[in-house]
Amino acid sequence: MTRLTGRNFMDLDDYSREEILLILETTKELKLELKRGYFHPYLKHKSLGCIFDQPSTRTRISFELGIQQLGGYVTYLKPGEIHLGKKESIYDTAKVLSRFFDAIMIRWNNYDEMKELADAATVPVINGMTEKNHPCQALADIYTMMERFDPIGGKKVVFFGDRTQPAHSLGLICSKLGLNFVHCCPEKYAILPDYTDIYARNNLISGGTYQHTDNIDEACKGAHLIYTDVWWWIGQEAEEDERKKLFAPYQVTAEILAKCDKNVIFEHCLPAMRGVEVTDEVMDGPHSVIYDQAENRMHTEKALMVLLMS
Ligand code: CP
Repeated sequence: MTRLTGRNFMDLDDYSREEILLILETTKELKLELKRGYFHPYLKHKSLGCIFDQPSTRTRISFELGIQQLGGYVTYLKPGEIHLGKKESIYDTAKVLSRFFDAIMIRWNNYDEMKELADAATVPVINGMTEKNHPCQALADIYTMMERFDPIGGKKVVFFGDRTQPAHSLGLICSKLGLNFVHCCPEKYAILPDYTDIYARNNLISGGTYQHTDNIDEACKGAHLIYTDVWWWIGQEAEEDERKKLFAPYQVTAEILAKCDKNVIFEHCLPAMRGVEVTDEVMDGPHSVIYDQAENRMHTEKALMVLLMS
């Protein structure tokens, strides 16, 4: 039997296809239980510490509310309000937090520092987003797709725009589960080999594929999921004008969705810049599943906590 108890959740590549499917199957069970009004205390009296170095809406709410629904407790450690990495070493912080909490969720804009914390901690550490990846987001992205397409294997997933953390992690989960992942954007912003090499290795096992193209028609042909994210992020503000110009043709519009499979769905990790990377018509249109996707952050993260902490 597959067990994930005590593991860190730093990167999807640390998890096998079977382990990822276990998280997604557990998500389905927990979501169904909640919709039927059952609140099983799978994590009764367990505690979660949530560290954020940046603001968050979805990640914070899904972990805080999620563990409370499971019978546990949560402490929110606000951006800039703990000593981590400033007055106290990462090592000492990890050791101390491990004495208080049964797991630590951390959003931190430095993957290597987060890894240092995870290596020193004696309880599971969950990656709530770094400058490289967003594995929790990818779980919700794929779970939301599974609610629309069964099976998902062999389906075509197209990410429009910059190589953001959700793009990296979406490509990774697709390569684990055997989906065909396409990154559509100008060549300059294509996903780099530090990720595409991993996709290639996983695709040999899963049967998935990875492709970069700047050709919108080619990307859209037969696409089942169109996904986009913001065109600039923390530290890239000075590139705003250049990015707006280069990414403009890749704004997700109704015309783009019309080129895809008739059952195509639209996803965005949110927050979105409406009218920039995507139009209101798409965000609020019949193909959009963005609010299901946001809600599913909580269901997938509850499953993750149950499996790692119980
Ligand atoms: N998608 C996502 O991580 O949202 P938040 O920044 O609101 O947590």
